[in-house]
Amino acid sequence: MKYAIGAILGVAVFAWLFSLCSPAGKNKTGHEYMPDMYHPVSYEANQYSAYHWNHWDGSDDGQAYSKAQLSQPRGKVNGTIPRGYTAVYYTDASALDMVRGKNASNAIAAPVNGEAPFYYVNTEDDRLRCEKEMVNNPFPITKEGLDRAKPLYDVYCGVCHGAKGDGQGVLVTVPDAKYPAAPKNLIGDDMIAAGNGRYYFAMMYGKNVMGGYSDKLSFEERWQVLHYIRSLQAKAKNLEYSEKSNTLSNIEKPAKGAASGPGRTAPAAPAAPAPAPGK
Ligand code: HEC
Repeated sequence: MKYAIGAILGVAVFAWLFSLCSPAGKNKTGHEYMPDMYHPVSYEANQYSAYHWNHWDGSDDGQAYSKAQLSQPRGKVNGTIPRGYTAVYYTDASALDMVRGKNASNAIAAPVNGEAPFYYVNTEDDRLRCEKEMVNNPFPITKEGLDRAKPLYDVYCGVCHGAKGDGQGVLVTVPDAKYPAAPKNLIGDDMIAAGNGRYYFAMMYGKNVMGGYSDKLSFEERWQVLHYIRSLQAKAKNLEYSEKSNTLSNIEKPAKGAASGPGRTAPAAPAAPAPAPGK
């Protein structure tokens, strides 16, 4: 008898313990005892929110968001730039020293990176709008920039688009290649004529089987990679694209030379005021 009572009590204690782990309800804290003591109730940018993970559930009480959605890291508000990050338009190489905090002994760097806002959504309409509106590369052509962009291009783009940009990267040229689509030939006439925005858009969102690179390349790196692609185009056409001279186009500005090329010309200004490059 004693044994039976002990067993029943034991089972009851276990059942009670398990009930403590039940999902959150109106008056129940659910999995954690007093989670608001451990976790801030306030929004924490870019963090998983254990508080919401434990407190909200779309299926239970008709909330508009699911638990999973509410516990995503919260991004920045659209159109805002976090402190210490800038998205500016450079006209010459010396401005880069300023941005990197090298222009004065007590200067503070304001790194330009992927946080520059990008106001286009991933649709064909916006791809075209972006190409039309994002005309200028905000960075001048510098040797330093091209040198920095080469390894980035080779790692992130060259595997498909080829070291020369001709679309013959290892992924499609290895014997028995399985890659399902032909990477775009970036040194073809159509891509030489294509606007900077088309490239920038492709780097942000990718296209079909090409994935986006917005999380791999910073704001400045995207533009430097674009310079590097332009230099590959110039090489293919026996033109010059360097910090001394640009005979490929009259859009991108060499840091120490002059643009003289007829190759690509800036499209007519769009009717509506265009966002500044880099936005
Ligand atoms: C895994 C292979 C792969 C990688 C890596 C890759 N691409 Fe692509 N890319 C493609 C393919 C495939 C297409 C053709 C997509 C289509 O038209 O369906 C393409 C298309 C493009 C286009 C043309 C988009 C348009 O508007 O038609 C551009 C520009 C481009 N890529 C640039 C880049 C850059 C810059 C990088 C590196 C940051 C890169 N790609 C990395 C496979 C790749």
